[in-house]
Amino acid sequence: MSKPATKISFPKQFLWGAATAAHQVEGGLHNNWTVWELENAKRLAAQAPYQFGDLDNWSKISREATNPNNYVSGRAVDHAGHYADDFKLLKDLGLSAFRFSIEWSRIEPNESSWDQAALDYYKNYIRDLKRMGLVPVVTLLHFTVPVWFAELGGFEKRRNVKYFERFVQKIVSEFGNEFKWVITVNEPEIMAENSYLHGDWPPQKTDRHLSRRVLSNLALAHKRAAKILHAKNKRIKVSIATNSSYIYPGDDAWLTRLSAGWRRWWQDDRFLRKTIKSCDFLGVNYYFSDRVYGYRVHNPEDNLSDVGWSMQPENLQYVLERLYRKYRLPIMITENGVADSSDEVRKWWLVESIKAMSQAQAEGVKLLGYLHWSFLDNFEWDKGFWPKFGLFSVDRRTMKRTARSSAKWYGAFVGKLAKK
Ligand code: BGC
Repeated sequence: MSKPATKISFPKQFLWGAATAAHQVEGGLHNNWTVWELENAKRLAAQAPYQFGDLDNWSKISREATNPNNYVSGRAVDHAGHYADDFKLLKDLGLSAFRFSIEWSRIEPNESSWDQAALDYYKNYIRDLKRMGLVPVVTLLHFTVPVWFAELGGFEKRRNVKYFERFVQKIVSEFGNEFKWVITVNEPEIMAENSYLHGDWPPQKTDRHLSRRVLSNLALAHKRAAKILHAKNKRIKVSIATNSSYIYPGDDAWLTRLSAGWRRWWQDDRFLRKTIKSCDFLGVNYYFSDRVYGYRVHNPEDNLSDVGWSMQPENLQYVLERLYRKYRLPIMITENGVADSSDEVRKWWLVESIKAMSQAQAEGVKLLGYLHWSFLDNFEWDKGFWPKFGLFSVDRRTMKRTARSSAKWYGAFVGKLAKK
């Protein structure tokens, strides 16, 4: 374990920001998830007491979690209708960067037919973002795909990767000079496992071989996208966003150490070893730690977030150190945050995460930026709207945004750093 760094300092050009994904905030979409949500909302609501009933905050969340409407993204938080004001909120807070995704199903609602209004929307979106002085970090695939692509078998089929390539070509020819930072695929391992191994997400398959094939096709999709982006503009910096938890042995038994090591490999290296050569930096999403005993994960029960994840923000340091040591690429924290509806722990989470980054830097890790998840409360996939990750809460009846006090603290902290 390394010694604490004495002083918090970050490079001048460090990006301080927040992150979102189209499906979770924009509203009014039609993709493989919106179709699945309508078919599964009732089931998810009925299962909620069994799935989340043991959480300490169950009495607080049960009303939302047992309501089928919670599981339908619908208007989401109408970010599509509010983006100009939303960018102003980020700017006024003092942040300098914003991660968002371009929704493929809007740009290409039917195979080979491009929606000009959607292209114009994103053109204006990026222009307004930059006018506000915010640096765009663009994601090209954040879990959702067009319905027609899903019907063709999605990423289950290698030959379908060409459709994603064509989408990337389109984005590059329309906006390729407008951004520098690109995430090709968000959390490919989570997408392949939740959708094709555990059967939790659309298309709800549970096939080990298929899950492996999807992951390998996502690696190909990333590599081909990187090639297209680099050919357009050498300035563009490309990565995936990997979901990396901190996995640690709970005892000294050889089986525990072996299984912790294996789990780390499975989580990070299985995909990165195939794709890292076409990355210019490494996007890392960090949310929780997993303590391993033998083959099992058993986390301390005393410090869990609203969604039951083990909160150990300080361990971000070790995740960064491991990934940097291994892959030697500068790292951008592309997501990091906590589900905390009463905003009791978010400020603590931010402080500990910032300290962890500072200490990782003192150990030689090169960091590019920190994008907090999330800018706004949003649609949390198969959990729907009940988990609250936002720096800003949203009243979904009026769509009014309100800065949580942790957000104000984050903004003030970034402001102070800028004055140093
Ligand atoms: C995903 C986000 C999600 C967040 C919190 C990440 O795995 O990229 O879309 O909202 O976790 O659940």
